[in-house]
Amino acid sequence: MTDILKVNGLTKSFGKVTAVDDLSFSMTQGEILGMMGPNGAGKTSVFNLLSGVFRPDRGKIEFGGEDITRLSASKRCKKGIGRTYQIPQPFGKLTVYENLLVSAVHGGRISESKARKRIREILDVVGLFEQRNQLSGGLPLLNRKALELGRAMATDPKLILLDEVAGGLTEAETEKVLDIVKEINERGVSIIWIEHILMTMAKGVDRLLVITQGSYLTSGSPEEVMNSDLVMESYLGEGD
Ligand SMILES: Nc1ncnc2c1ncn2[C@@H]1O[C@H](COP(=O)(O)OP(=O)(O)OP(=O)(O)O)[C@@H](O)[C@H]1O
Ligand SMILES: [Mg+2]
Repeated sequence: MTDILKVNGLTKSFGKVTAVDDLSFSMTQGEILGMMGPNGAGKTSVFNLLSGVFRPDRGKIEFGGEDITRLSASKRCKKGIGRTYQIPQPFGKLTVYENLLVSAVHGGRISESKARKRIREILDVVGLFEQRNQLSGGLPLLNRKALELGRAMATDPKLILLDEVAGGLTEAETEKVLDIVKEINERGVSIIWIEHILMTMAKGVDRLLVITQGSYLTSGSPEEVMNSDLVMESYLGEGD
């Protein structure tokens, strides 16, 4: 299978803190890769490096066989990397539909008429068709999370980076997010998913990557990783 993403020796420091430290990993096209690690392990920083918010101090990022290490965030978005944010950033005073339209037209590679067609499809995938004309600011948390997923999809990405989209949800709600993520993945989108909830990771991902202090710790099937002594010591041992 082809690698959609290859990361080699990625390093990023902020003053004395090395947030990402010589990290290498790759993922195959169509994969759902879970990323775990204690608070402050550098997970969000990896997303910021992949999406172009930060420039790495060292290392290389290849996406679809192309070196994108030096590309701007907007160029990476156009190449097909979409994301959600740990702190959601929808426009509360816009409706669900308008939020998706803004994402599709500004972030995407498509005209407004194509965007409208695409939004219709996204509303079905994320289950927000009924709420399409409601202001997003007033929606319940699950719907706001679904909108985040929809906004990430609106740019028609090949890879979506999900930063704790299930945080703060009940178990039943988390199952719904899981279904949406799987549906997005079945449409051919590769996914990297950061989440602290172990059960979500176990059910939702093909493979898990664990990082601590910005470095690679281990990767494997959810079962392998969760039974690994290394993970027990470094991750679960710290309590979270
Ligand atoms: N923009 C920034 N400026 C300075 N330091 C930063 C910045 N972004 C991240 N850091 C630092 O880098 C380290 C890794 O942070 P990061 O947010 O990537 O961790 P995380 O694994 O996402 O944690 P959490 O599980 O709490 O979300 C932390 O020590 C953090 O304080
Ligand atoms: Mg984070």
